[in-house]
Amino acid sequence: MFHDPAFIPFTPNARPSYRSALRNFLENWPPEAYRGGYFALDGVWPIIPKTHYLTDPDLIEEMLVARADAFGRDILTTAALSANITENALFFAEGAEWRWQRRALAPAFRHEHLLALVPRFSECAEAQAGSWRRAPPSGAVDIAHAMSQVTFAVIERALLSAPGAFDRDRYLAAMLASLQGMAWTRFYAFLSLPRWFPYPGSRNIRGQLRYLHAETARIIAERRTAALSETPAIVDLLLAAKDPETGRQMSDPVLISNLYGLMVAGHETSAVALAWALWILAKDQASQERLRQEARDVAADAAIGPETVEKLHFTKQVIQESMRLFPPAAAIGRQPRADTTLGPYRIPAKEPVYVAIWALHRHEKLWDEPNAFDPERFATEKAKARPRCAYLPFGAGPRICIGMSFAMLEMVTILATLVRDFRFEPVEGPLIELAPDFTTRAKGGLPVRVTPV
Ligand code: HEM
Repeated sequence: MFHDPAFIPFTPNARPSYRSALRNFLENWPPEAYRGGYFALDGVWPIIPKTHYLTDPDLIEEMLVARADAFGRDILTTAALSANITENALFFAEGAEWRWQRRALAPAFRHEHLLALVPRFSECAEAQAGSWRRAPPSGAVDIAHAMSQVTFAVIERALLSAPGAFDRDRYLAAMLASLQGMAWTRFYAFLSLPRWFPYPGSRNIRGQLRYLHAETARIIAERRTAALSETPAIVDLLLAAKDPETGRQMSDPVLISNLYGLMVAGHETSAVALAWALWILAKDQASQERLRQEARDVAADAAIGPETVEKLHFTKQVIQESMRLFPPAAAIGRQPRADTTLGPYRIPAKEPVYVAIWALHRHEKLWDEPNAFDPERFATEKAKARPRCAYLPFGAGPRICIGMSFAMLEMVTILATLVRDFRFEPVEGPLIELAPDFTTRAKGGLPVRVTPV
């Protein structure tokens, strides 16, 4: 078990505050969230709905898995995210529309297709390593920014196969800027304010979003006329997808939303998870050394490839444990389609329910020393002994993250490649502050020192 005060980045409020709702909504989850199985935050009638939160694995399984059809996406997440990922994408689609989009995308996420992508993951990690080798950083590196660049290169390769289809730096900068409006859009959704209502920086953010959607539309248009490569990229599968029941194909707006949605969902979450893993390893030097040794034992100096990636068991456990302490998605929202109950709790149709992942992952009854870092928790036998819905970085049930295996292979490859060749050390400074928006980010980035080993 490795302890560090920085692993507890805030103290839960006994009473919710508007300041926390805007700054870090996790502060408003009360101390009982970490001990009980359910809590609720009162609404302010008629504008702010009451919200329900689950931290009991059985109740969570009931909502996400057993009775998944009885719940859709919640109004707050939809209102907050749909400025970015538009509502006709897979992420928001419901019913028959969701089913056929999910089926259309499934082949791209099959195991053998993903294993074939591992050399691309390695190349992207190597590109980052090469730039650190050529110009060793003299001061602290914002590892969150560095990981955004690596995972964006990965998603570009996976979605489009050839890099260079667009101005990557500008696209990425616009995407990161646009996500910064999320705390406001969530807060406004909470207050039932219209989406066009201004907030600090909103003009700029809307401009960035227009640019991002126009660029994505241009990529789709170019792709329609381009020759297919031997291994089709994910965008080619989207273009070719046909609903087996009706024969229809995705319209341009749906294609654009899905491509853009995959760009955001596919790179930002993995970037955040990798950044926290490296920031934690910078503190826990013993785990870092063990991971380095594993990478050397498994792959020596060779690039991590399809035949080695699945032997990196400890590397995978480090990522799993980092995502327990700092889950990239801190909550998963749902809303019942009609008035219902979950266990003894009554949930009216107009009230959202959240799986409180951050609190579930630090729950006192589910984890020994929940705030300590211990990759051994994910050794096979220990992991099997836990309830199925005690650990949910990717969700569960039919709407489980479609990119889960992609992300795990990608993150293991990148982490092993970088830790094998570089030492990561902590940087003295004030305690980090959480500023969750689309994902669980730290305010101002995550500084670490990086030196070649
Ligand atoms: C560490 C990396 C990632 C994490 C932690 C993560 C987490 C999640 C979570 C929590 C959900 C919501 C599940 C629900 O509502 O029940 C989700 C959905 C989704 N994710 Fe991921 N994700 C990651 C990587 C990816 C990648 C790499 C892709 C694609 C390349 C992706 C694409 C999606 C899509 C399209 C959905 C919507 C699925 C649906 O509604 O059917 N994610 N993800």
